[in-house]
Amino acid sequence: MKSFNSIRGLGRADLDSLIAASMRYREVRRHDRVLDARTVALLFFERSTRTRLSFQLAAEKLGANVLNLDPSRSSTGKGESLRDTLMTVAAIGADVLVVRHVESGVPELAGEWTGLSVINAGDGAREHPTQALVDIVTLRSHFGDLSGLRVGIVGDIRHSRVAGSLIHGLPVMGVDLVLIGPHEFLPSHDGGIAMTTDLDGVIEDLDVVYLLRVQRERGAEVDEKYSQQYGFDSTRTAALHENAVIMHPGPLNRGVEISDEVADGPRSLILDQVANGVPVRMAVLAALESALA
Ligand code: NCD
Repeated sequence: MKSFNSIRGLGRADLDSLIAASMRYREVRRHDRVLDARTVALLFFERSTRTRLSFQLAAEKLGANVLNLDPSRSSTGKGESLRDTLMTVAAIGADVLVVRHVESGVPELAGEWTGLSVINAGDGAREHPTQALVDIVTLRSHFGDLSGLRVGIVGDIRHSRVAGSLIHGLPVMGVDLVLIGPHEFLPSHDGGIAMTTDLDGVIEDLDVVYLLRVQRERGAEVDEKYSQQYGFDSTRTAALHENAVIMHPGPLNRGVEISDEVADGPRSLILDQVANGVPVRMAVLAALESALA
């Protein structure tokens, strides 16, 4: 694999091999330093906590040197073009670019301009493929086989790049997916996936409730009615069946889509998702290794 820009186009065998590698990295503490003497550049033009830190640790565990660009302190603020910034990082000696950007398609552009391997760490409202892989690995370790598992993604699906990747990845794993939210947050084209505005009408059938943050920075608006209709507090969580779990990619808007008791409660897999961020990103970085020049 030269680059990892999207979950689209990955088949079951590709996902299974990334899942298996992630599981191996979860178990083992000492790793082959497959990226020894390689350089991974973290280029986060948008805010990030868990994705950036887990990429950094993943790259370091595999033996890579890590360059961490801070756009607020770099020449981007002096008017340097994105292309010039990326070409500069390439000339300094990066082998892999991990790119997050507010605009969709920047990871592909980065690959075209520099010729380097690129990992998409979130582009606009389009895709966040390593987060989807993290979530698939989290589900696999909790439930085992995913075929027939009923997952409801709840909230601001239209603006969510995490949902943009999950919508492609989960069905490949045999998951039965339903998108849940107010009309203005549901995608305009369903692509064959079930959708509903009625959370309480489907809640009892769900094995997994995957909550999303309302993305105010991408123009979404939220009012009190939203929390009443779609927020998860202990009352709504009590309507779930016994073995159902709650997931969320973070960052959480506590009191909006999720209450404290639910976020910190026994059904929550939120910190498992965070913990899986490192082995999954190690698996993705290692999968690119054979394509490096
Ligand atoms: C998400 C992101 O930035 O795409 N967070 C993450 O990477 N875990 C989701 C969000 O911003 O709500």
